[in-house]
Amino acid sequence: MTEHPLVAHPPTIAIDGPSASGKSTLARAVARTLGWVHADTGSLYRSIAYSLIRSGLEEAPDEIRCRHVLALGIRYVVQDGGTRVFLGDRDVSSELRTEEVGRLASSVSQLPCVREALLRTQRDLADKGHVVMDGRDIGTIILPEATLKVFLVADPKVRAERRRMELESNGVSLPLDAVLKEIQTRDSNDRNRALAPLVKAPDALELDNSRMTVEESVRWILERLPR
Ligand code: DC
Repeated sequence: MTEHPLVAHPPTIAIDGPSASGKSTLARAVARTLGWVHADTGSLYRSIAYSLIRSGLEEAPDEIRCRHVLALGIRYVVQDGGTRVFLGDRDVSSELRTEEVGRLASSVSQLPCVREALLRTQRDLADKGHVVMDGRDIGTIILPEATLKVFLVADPKVRAERRRMELESNGVSLPLDAVLKEIQTRDSNDRNRALAPLVKAPDALELDNSRMTVEESVRWILERLPR
């Protein structure tokens, strides 16, 4: 009989789901309630896209983009219960929430060199435990031993309206139809890619938050967190 060593994993919560499903808002609220750290992993992919755009390399061959990624010096810095993303010593966190950056992030996240570069960054943060991490592959690849895995879904129209309001609060006005189309394209890219596709982990619990408030969703998660 094979003996399995008993490994204690530090407590973590993985929240995965499609674009604009409310993952980050919910993960932040859960982390705040528990006094844990919230790690928004989308911002890591977005920081790479942001840097490629600024360097005029968004369309460069993969080999050149990968060399750029390896030299970026991407760092997660924990601040006020959340994470900031630094490229070298520059905090780029507040420059990442545009549609242009999101679109390229979805595309560069399919490059193996990008996923490899970010794997260690994410696991290093989670190794300390007491982290709520949101993304696309957290429950399946980054934290397969997470204490609780949630797969968050919401009606595409509800998601489009949430994203439209987020954009509007950043001074960008777009018709709902255009936002919905963008979300559907992003969903299809994230679900159908070969590497680390967006998929529900077999042991994840599905939460449809289309008609729930953030507080109700937080309660739903806390009630299911093993203590
Ligand atoms: O969650 P977001 O919109 O900030 O993520 C931007 C893109 O980054 C998303 O379309 C796919 C990619 N991503 C990923 O591949 N894996 C993650 N864990 C998080 C984001």
